[in-house]
Amino acid sequence: MAQVSLEINGKRVCHEAPARMHLGDFLRDQARLTGTHLGCEHGVCGACTVLLDGEPVRSCIAYATACEGRHVTTIEGYDDDPVMARLRPAFTHHHALQCGYCTPGMLATARDIVLRLPDADEARVRIELSGNLCRCTGYMGIVAAVMSVLAGLRAQPDAAVSALRDALAQGRGAAPAAPQAAPAVFQAFAPVAAPPAPAAPASAAPVPDAASPARAPGKGNRIEGGFTVPFPPDQVWAFMVDLPAVAACLPGAVIQEHEGDRVKGKIAIKFGPMAAAFNGAARLERDDAAKRAVFRGAGQDSLSQSRATGDIAYLVHALDDGHTRVDVDLQYTLQGPLAQFSRSGLVQDFVRRMIADFGKNVGARLGSGVGDGPPAQAEFNAVGMFFSVLWMRIKRWFGRAS
Ligand code: FES
Ligand code: FES
Repeated sequence: MAQVSLEINGKRVCHEAPARMHLGDFLRDQARLTGTHLGCEHGVCGACTVLLDGEPVRSCIAYATACEGRHVTTIEGYDDDPVMARLRPAFTHHHALQCGYCTPGMLATARDIVLRLPDADEARVRIELSGNLCRCTGYMGIVAAVMSVLAGLRAQPDAAVSALRDALAQGRGAAPAAPQAAPAVFQAFAPVAAPPAPAAPASAAPVPDAASPARAPGKGNRIEGGFTVPFPPDQVWAFMVDLPAVAACLPGAVIQEHEGDRVKGKIAIKFGPMAAAFNGAARLERDDAAKRAVFRGAGQDSLSQSRATGDIAYLVHALDDGHTRVDVDLQYTLQGPLAQFSRSGLVQDFVRRMIADFGKNVGARLGSGVGDGPPAQAEFNAVGMFFSVLWMRIKRWFGRAS
């Protein structure tokens, strides 16, 4: 792993990343800027095009570590850009997008054409755009949109666009100006300093405020859930930060390495048509005083090569003398073939059901006495869970219809 520091859309961003992680994955998984799309991941389709120091590059074939210290502009970073201000309405007017998958890369390339080739004719625009593939084959609208912006600038030059063209001609790059206010990026759980409390161990890391209503909205998928157990909060908290014990309650999860608050392991999921076995690593950030923690992890499915990144925040609080509520807030992004399932209501029900089953397992283990020997792994009943979720859905559909 290496520490990578980039300026993305005018904002300094630092994250750990594997040495071979490409810039596209870094932008999506680490910086959580999911406007950059990945298609072929071989430098062919152009969907992943972003600006590096003002010039278009394929982010899927640029190592993130090789971009250290450089300026990256993604589709989220053009708020104040005078060329994008013309391209956006032109794309709308000429119906230049259908599914929109190629659009972030098309726009980055189109902006480059407008700046570099003010006199381009249609044939030249088509050649310049040939490195960006549109799977919807919507080329006529895209070419028409670029041509209309070029024609508009020829008829009525724009001083801001001319300044960018001059900067490019002088080799100074044509990156858009940094936005006045940085665009909101995916920030699942904003870190806050742990409140001073003498009882908190000195090593407790600051963790997000899981209960804060002012939390920044994320761009990934979000599922909230929770469970109640008939035990006092101190006992539940001690259990919830014992990683092997927690993993033993999560159906399908196995810890392979465990050191302090870091774990490596795998979780196998089978649900209807979806089967996955994610291998990955995670770390726990905890605030013992407030009894809240965030489990941050990332993994890859060995079957479909899909990648998942997620944060699970939980907050343990007392309901009454003998009962404790654990609120769980999951935010995640999925990339690859499994991404098609990530937003479906069925998957959301499935995850809520997983949380409920996890709560039952926690209650059962607390009742049987934590620490009495190694934890027995919770069994995963895929068929039972599939039909249970389906049944929940059917009941809801009929409830709505009646
Ligand atoms: S995803 Fe980068 S060129 Fe296709
Ligand atoms: S609009 Fe669908 S891929 Fe281009």
